[in-house]
Amino acid sequence: MAKKRILSGMRPTGKLHLGHLAGALNNWIKLQDEYDCYFMVADWHALMSEYENPENIKANILDNVVDWLSCGINPDKSVIFIQSEVPEHLELFFILSLITPLGLLERCPTYKEQLREISNRNLSTYGFLGYPVLQAADILLYKADSVPVGEDQLPHLELTRQIVRKFNHLYPVKKENVFPEPKALLTETPRLMGLDGRKMSKSYNNYIALSEEPEVIRKKIQNMFTDPERIRLTDPGHPHKCNVFSYYSVFFPEMKPETEKRCSKSAIGCTDCKKELAAKIIGLLAPIQENRNALLKDKKRLLDILSAGKIKASSVASKTISEVKELLKI
Ligand code: TRP
Repeated sequence: MAKKRILSGMRPTGKLHLGHLAGALNNWIKLQDEYDCYFMVADWHALMSEYENPENIKANILDNVVDWLSCGINPDKSVIFIQSEVPEHLELFFILSLITPLGLLERCPTYKEQLREISNRNLSTYGFLGYPVLQAADILLYKADSVPVGEDQLPHLELTRQIVRKFNHLYPVKKENVFPEPKALLTETPRLMGLDGRKMSKSYNNYIALSEEPEVIRKKIQNMFTDPERIRLTDPGHPHKCNVFSYYSVFFPEMKPETEKRCSKSAIGCTDCKKELAAKIIGLLAPIQENRNALLKDKKRLLDILSAGKIKASSVASKTISEVKELLKI
């Protein structure tokens, strides 16, 4: 039986960090054997919010793809491509926008939240309102069965399904519908908080980049907050209230019971616990960084991978667009 297909994407708005590894990449890597995978750099999506400073996006595109490959996204198994290199995304975006009710977009919780939270950019634009419609186009162009995403993206998947139902209702086909309703494949890892306990984010500068130097990793981890109730070394710690412990849980689950015991029995101090965590994270990132350095020296390989990805993605995309145009009598 043919493998089911998945599509997922990331916006190239900054360097990739441990949050991307825990929340998306590790999951993508696992899915590669079971599914026919399409992984996309969502540069148009990045531009929807960064259109005032487009220069920031360009450098991140290649840098992010280098990180994907270095972590284990395998171009022999998966199609890796850049959204803007396949123009059919915008074509389908427009077509879907014809049938998407305004109310659905205005009520979308991610849209309302971003308008409220992001004050240093003007997001009251026609384009930004359509963000989930472009995402629907990304998914539907490849007729993806499932979409691996974090919880924050669920409203966009629901919107995609609503658009599919409307499309299939308006333009019925005798045999099989043009678009299947895609399902969310929720990533199970709990969300990794930033080094300061707030949401991990580029604008708070509270993350460890996958390409971070060991010395910087040590410093950043040494500055992490630990259990606020543990003042003296002899006080028992509360690992479940400690952000450092959550890093152990996410990245080194095999160390969880021992770390929990040592902390709550005050057998280890916070400084040493953080030193050990830093050493483990440096070890985790070392092979990734080695791959990264090799790839950065082999730009041709990188560009070859992306142009092969573009060709494969385009052949699927152009077929879907022809079917859609036929239904629309264009
Ligand atoms: N909106 C997604 C995010 O910010 C990125 C994205 C764009 C995406 N197109 C997609 C995710 C299609 C899944 C499928 O994380």
